[in-house]
Amino acid sequence: MIASMIDTLEEIRTRGLAELEAVGDAASLEKWRIAYLGTKGKLKAAMGGMKDVAPSDKPKVGKLANAVKTELETAFKARKSALETGGGSGPRIDMTEPGLVWTQALGRRHIISRVRDELVDVFGRMGFDVAQGPELEDDEHNFVKLNIPEGHPAREPIDNFYVDDPQTTPRPRMLRSQTSTVQIRTMDDAVARGWGPPIKIVSPGRVYRPDTVDATHSFMFHQIEGLYIDHDVSMVDLKSTLMHFARAYFAEDAEVRLRPSFFPFTEPSAEFDMKIALKPGEPAQWIELGGCGMVDPNVLEACGIDPEEWTGFAFGFGIERIAMGKYGIPDSRMLFENDLRFLDQI
Ligand code: DAH
Repeated sequence: MIASMIDTLEEIRTRGLAELEAVGDAASLEKWRIAYLGTKGKLKAAMGGMKDVAPSDKPKVGKLANAVKTELETAFKARKSALETGGGSGPRIDMTEPGLVWTQALGRRHIISRVRDELVDVFGRMGFDVAQGPELEDDEHNFVKLNIPEGHPAREPIDNFYVDDPQTTPRPRMLRSQTSTVQIRTMDDAVARGWGPPIKIVSPGRVYRPDTVDATHSFMFHQIEGLYIDHDVSMVDLKSTLMHFARAYFAEDAEVRLRPSFFPFTEPSAEFDMKIALKPGEPAQWIELGGCGMVDPNVLEACGIDPEEWTGFAFGFGIERIAMGKYGIPDSRMLFENDLRFLDQI
């Protein structure tokens, strides 16, 4: 008797589950429930056979009967909710909901790249195009045409990264030490192709000098060079352009000053300083952003531009210094350590 009881219960389980799988709507689901789990259903009917089971087998059969009942009930609930949520067994999807938040951290552009683009944008609004030049240069563009003749102390190997020996090679190559090289390339190009002057460009890029690394120096850094050549360009244009830049990029009340200085390629020359607080709460101090001046007539002539007809100004600023001032970064080494805790903040 016990064997047939077990067979019956197993059969109810197997068939019940198979039929439930085939149920496709609420009405047939209800029919299934009545047929299997209802008070006059198959399970109840099978339980009627319990009375014929030997008392010693009753616990075993009873246990199986309970297990089948629980299994069918669980399967019934799952099928019911699957039908209600549109068929699939996963959660109902509302296509109009916004997507789930993607918690994987996304990368972002480096601060220097960001500042470079911001600078190009600000100067772009003042009418400056973007020009570029190579990082591997020769002494003609880095020195000669910028009015830095042979024997000038700025050419010393100790201050430059030469690729060829400057003593033995007729045209030594070097990693450029300043973006002023692009002034020369742009003027040469404008004259050769006949599209200028007028010339109005900025040129951001990397430069290299064998400097000892500290909070404001490195062997590689970035500059942005500016050059404007036209009829009657004067020191007033230079000063107002730089004031404009400082106000547009930093703050309406940005404090700037020009200090007389010397560069071989400008006459007169000046240093451009801005008052900046590098640490929050600390008093602002004058920080040198770079040099500027009126383009020396020798430089114009070296590029085939008549200094009697054209005048111009030029400037070259350190992008790291600008980034430090803009974002309150006290030490430029932080910019290249690539510590995500730092990079994430800006
Ligand atoms: N090239 C200079 C430097 O690296 C900066 C500079 C000064 C650029 C005066 C200029 C300029 O265009 O007119 O220190």
